[in-house]
Amino acid sequence: MFIQFLVWFLLLGSSSVASQQQDVDFTYNGFRGVNLSMDGLAQITDRGLLMLVNTTNQQVGHAFYPHPIHLRNSSTGNVLSFSTTFVFEFWQQNPRFAGPAMAFVISPSKEFPGAVAGIYLGLFNRTNIGNSSNHVFAIELDCLQNKQFNDINGNHVGVDINDLKSVKAASASYFSDQENQQLNISLNGGQPLQLWVEYNGEEKQINVTLAPFNVHKPRIPLLSFELDLSQVMVDPMFVGFSSASYVLPISHYILGWSFKMNGEARDLTLSQLPKVPITTRKRSHRLSIVVVSVMASAILLLILISIIQYIVKRKKKFAEVLEDWELDYGPYRFKYKDLYIATKGFKDKELLGAGGFGRVYRGVLPTSKKEVAVKQVSHTSRQGEREFIAEITSIGKLRHRNIVTLLGYCRRKEELLLVYEFMPNGSLDKFLFDQTQTKTNLNWCQRFQIIKSIAAALLYLHEEWDQVVIHRDVKSSNILLDEELNARLGDFGLARLYDHGTDPQTTHVVGTLGYLAPEFCETGKAHPPVDVFAFGAFLLEVACGRRPIEGEASEECMVLVDWVILCWSKGRILDSVDPKLGLNYEEEEMELVLKLGLLCSHSIPTARPQMRQVMRYLKREISLPDLTMLGLRTAIDDCTSFLPSKGFHDVSSSWSSYPRSQMTDPSSVEESVLSEGR
Ligand SMILES: *[C@@H]1O[C@H](CO)[C@@H](O)[C@H](O)[C@H]1NC(C)=O
Ligand SMILES: *[C@@H]1O[C@H](CO)[C@@H](O)[C@H](O)[C@H]1NC(C)=O
Ligand SMILES: *[C@@H]1O[C@H](CO)[C@@H](O)[C@H](O)[C@H]1NC(C)=O
Ligand SMILES: *[C@@H]1O[C@H](CO)[C@@H](O)[C@H](O)[C@H]1NC(C)=O
Ligand SMILES: *[C@@H]1O[C@H](CO)[C@@H](O)[C@H](O)[C@H]1NC(C)=O
Ligand SMILES: *[C@@H]1O[C@H](CO)[C@@H](O)[C@H](O)[C@H]1NC(C)=O
Ligand SMILES: *[C@@H]1O[C@H](CO)[C@@H](O)[C@H](O)[C@H]1NC(C)=O
Repeated sequence: MFIQFLVWFLLLGSSSVASQQQDVDFTYNGFRGVNLSMDGLAQITDRGLLMLVNTTNQQVGHAFYPHPIHLRNSSTGNVLSFSTTFVFEFWQQNPRFAGPAMAFVISPSKEFPGAVAGIYLGLFNRTNIGNSSNHVFAIELDCLQNKQFNDINGNHVGVDINDLKSVKAASASYFSDQENQQLNISLNGGQPLQLWVEYNGEEKQINVTLAPFNVHKPRIPLLSFELDLSQVMVDPMFVGFSSASYVLPISHYILGWSFKMNGEARDLTLSQLPKVPITTRKRSHRLSIVVVSVMASAILLLILISIIQYIVKRKKKFAEVLEDWELDYGPYRFKYKDLYIATKGFKDKELLGAGGFGRVYRGVLPTSKKEVAVKQVSHTSRQGEREFIAEITSIGKLRHRNIVTLLGYCRRKEELLLVYEFMPNGSLDKFLFDQTQTKTNLNWCQRFQIIKSIAAALLYLHEEWDQVVIHRDVKSSNILLDEELNARLGDFGLARLYDHGTDPQTTHVVGTLGYLAPEFCETGKAHPPVDVFAFGAFLLEVACGRRPIEGEASEECMVLVDWVILCWSKGRILDSVDPKLGLNYEEEEMELVLKLGLLCSHSIPTARPQMRQVMRYLKREISLPDLTMLGLRTAIDDCTSFLPSKGFHDVSSSWSSYPRSQMTDPSSVEESVLSEGR
C-alpha cells in the first residue's frame, strides 16, 4: 500500500514537475549524437552538421526538437518569453541564382503533411497558407523574392505568422557596433551567419538580430517590434527548422543551436561548431569560378561562332566557283564581292536594263573606280559552261573600237556575271524606237556612221581576228553608244549559252525573231551569214526607224523586210524611210542602206554578201547588184515555227497573199550570187 502510494506519489511528483513547466534549455554546439525529429531530406551529417536539405530538387526537410514545449503559462495562458540563436550556412551552386528560404519554426506539430516544397518552405500549401488555424510562427531567411508573398527583395529576414507574407521583414543586414552603421549581408554568401530570435512575453516584443559568424551580437536588432503571439501559440508547441529545395541545387546547414525558455539562450561556442565541408565550400567557389569561366567561354564561343557564321555567310554570299581550268583565265575573273560592291548589291537603282539573257547593272569598281556594266546571266546548264567561258575570255581578248570590251567575268553557282565597259548612252534601239524617252533623235549622218561602225566590227569578228567569231545576236538593242554616240557591238555569244548542254547539231535556236536567218532556224548552226542576215535587219531598222517585226502594225507592215520589199517592188523604196528623219538624209546613202539591208536579209545564206563586201558597198567602192536578179523571199516564211504568239500564225496565212512575183527559184539565184560574191 505504502509502496503503491510511493509509486503514486513519485508518479504524481514527476508529473507535477513536468506540469511545473521546467524551462526548456538546450544548446547544441554541433549536432553529433543529438536526438532531433527529422523528416524529408533533413539529416545530421558525419561532421555533426544539421543538413536540412541537400541538393535534391523540390524536396522538404524538417528538423525539430523532439519534445513538446509549453510556451504558455498554464495558469494565466500568457505566452512565455523565449530566446534562441543558431548558426547557419547556405550553400548554393550558383550564388547568383537565389534559392528559397529556410525558417526557424514554432508550430503545434513536427510534421507537415501536404506541405509543399519550393516557395512554400515545406510549411504550407496553397489551400492552407494564411489560415489562422495553422498556428505557425516562423522566422524566414529568404533568398528569393516572391511577389506573391510581397517579398521585399531576394535577401531578407522576415517574421511570418501562419503565412509566408511576412508580418515584418528587413533586408539581410546588421548593425556594426564597430563601424556604427548598418552593413548588408548576403544570406547566400557561402559564409556562416548567426541569428538571434528573442521574445519578451511580458512586453510582447520580438527582436530578430542577424550577424556574420564571429561577430558579437549587435546592439541594435535587425527587427524589433511589438508582437502578441497569444493568438498563435497553442500548447504545446514544437521548435525546429523547416526548409525546402527548389529547382536549383542548394544545401541549408545548421551548425549550432541554442534555445531557452524564460531567459536568454546560451551563447554558442563558435569554435566548437562543425564546419561545412571545405570541399563543398571550395567547390562552391571553384564551381562558381568554373561556372563563370564556362559562361565566359560560352559567351566567347557564341561570339566566335557568330563571327564565323558571319564570315561564312559573307564568304558564301561572295563565294565563287573556281575550277582548275579557269586558272588560265585568271585575269578575266572578277571577284563577286567586288561586283557586289560595285553594283551596290545589285540594287534596282543601278539597273540599266533587263532582257532575255539577264539583267544589266551599272557599277563602279571599288579599286579602280572604273564604271562598268555588269550583266547577270542566269543559266542552269553547267555542261558547256567551260567552253562558254573559254569563248567569253577569248572574246575578252577582242580589241576593236566598235566592240564593247568584255573586261571579265565572274562565275557563281547558277549565275554568270559578265563585266563590260560602261556605255553611257545605252543601246541604239532606245534612240530608234523609244518615243517615250526624250533621247536625241539620231540624224542620218549619225545613223550612217553607226552602220559603218557595226559593219567594221562584224568584219573584224568574221575575218580580221585570229578566230572566226559569230556574234549570233546582232540587233539594235545589242548596239551600244558611247558618250560620243560611237556605236559599239556588245553582248557576244550569249545566245549560245542556251545551246550548251545539248548537242550543237540539234539545238533549238535562240536568237531574236526577225533577226534570225532561216537556215539558222533549220540547222541551228552558226556561221558568218547568220550575222549578215541579222545585220540586214539592223540596216533596215536604222533606216526605217522600226523594229523588224511589229505586232501592232498593219498586216502588210508587220514584217519590216517584207514591207521594204513591198515598197521597193512599187519602185518607191524611200517610202519606208523613218518619218522622223523627214527629208534630211542623203538619198543615195539611204537607198544603198535599204537595198543592202534587203540583200543581207536574203533567205539563202550564200546570196548574202560577206562583211568585207558589205564594207566595200558602204564605202561605195563597188556598187550593189541589181536586186531584181535576186529571189527575195521573206525569212519569216521559213521561221514561222518560231513565231512566239498565236496571232502570228493567224496572220502568216495572209502573207501567202503577198505578191511574190519577183521571187524566182532560189537554186538558180544561188549560183549567180555565188559567182558575184566571190
Ligand atoms: C529521441 O527522442 C525520441 C522521442 O522522445 C525517443 O523516442 C528516442 O528514443 C530518442 N532517441 C535517442 C537516440 O535518444
Ligand atoms: C539527399 O538526401 C537524401 C536523404 O537524406 C539521400 O537519399 C540523397 O541521396 C541525398 N542526395 C544528395 C544529392 O546528396
Ligand atoms: C504563470 O503565471 C503565474 C501567475 O502570473 C506565475 O506565478 C507563474 O510563475 C507563471 N509560470 C511560469 C512558468 O512562468
Ligand atoms: C494542404 O495541407 C493540409 C494540411 O497539411 C492538408 O490537409 C491538405 O490536404 C493540403 N492540401 C493540398 C492541396 O495538398
Ligand atoms: C482554415 O482551416 C480550417 C481547418 O483546416 C478550415 O476548416 C477553414 O475553412 C480554413 N479557413 C480558410 C479561410 O480557409
Ligand atoms: C543594402 O541593401 C539594400 C537593399 O538591397 C540596398 O538598398 C542598400 O543600398 C544596400 N546598402 C549597401 C551599403 O550596400
Ligand atoms: C530588443 O532590443 C531592444 C534594443 O534594441 C531592447 O531594448 C529590448 O529589450 C530587446 N527585447 C528583447 C525581447 O530582447
